[in-house]
Amino acid sequence: MQIETKLLSGALGAEIKGIDLTDISDDNFKKINDLLLEHKVIFFRDQPLTAEQHIALAEKFGPLETHAYVKGLEKFPEIVRIIKAEDEKNQWGENWHSDVSYNFKPTKAVILKSIKIPPVGGDTCFSNMELAWETLDGKIKDKIKDKKAIHSSLGAEFFLENYKKMEGNKNKNYNEYSNEHPMVRTHPETGKKILFVNWTYTKEIIGMKREESEEILKQIFEHQTRLDLTCRFTWTENAVCIWDNRSVIHYAIADFYPGKGLGYERVMDRIAIEGDHPQ
Ligand SMILES: [Fe+2]
Repeated sequence: MQIETKLLSGALGAEIKGIDLTDISDDNFKKINDLLLEHKVIFFRDQPLTAEQHIALAEKFGPLETHAYVKGLEKFPEIVRIIKAEDEKNQWGENWHSDVSYNFKPTKAVILKSIKIPPVGGDTCFSNMELAWETLDGKIKDKIKDKKAIHSSLGAEFFLENYKKMEGNKNKNYNEYSNEHPMVRTHPETGKKILFVNWTYTKEIIGMKREESEEILKQIFEHQTRLDLTCRFTWTENAVCIWDNRSVIHYAIADFYPGKGLGYERVMDRIAIEGDHPQ
């Protein structure tokens, strides 16, 4: 099959045709991983993967991760089912973040598969953190290049109460915890520098006065969500998205309003692959 690549923006993201995601041979996996490293987030339409096929594909990337706060499916605990109920306007992940960056080993990559999609609303945006580092103001770069920041899970535990059809992972008792990560990390596969900071979980720059830390983080958060660093994907059912959680941040748009997307359920299956400790 001929591979066709349609770029979603000048910054990152590509929709791929001509790859069958049920083929997990080393050769096909290499093609998928190379596309992921090149585009940072890749999308495939009309790939009705079963739970077993979804898991098998994810396992090619490495050991799977259990979410700190959300319970997986009874039969497939590796799969977290993200559900926005018909009458809910909010959905999980509706602010800029990289998944579980508060973990010692934040997620390497996520494979998200759409099951039910409203007729309008609920697109997902991604922003390229390699490009964000390259284009960051030189003075800020100098200030943060050797710094670490605290990533806290504060807030992550609350969301479950907001969604009727999602269930918590009671093992953790929803306690807050945090880890320190370099603000600029090196991608373990490409060797590229990446800005590793996000609005949802990054709270403080270590070794900096509180006001200065707040001011610099504010400027970084504005910079890293500039529209020219982003792409946007409109879901259809049985679409699969794979993102490199080390080098992008993302935002699940909750634009479900009466008369438009509201009144419809949105269901996605998520599998996360364990990452390494950022260096
Ligand atoms: Fe997320």
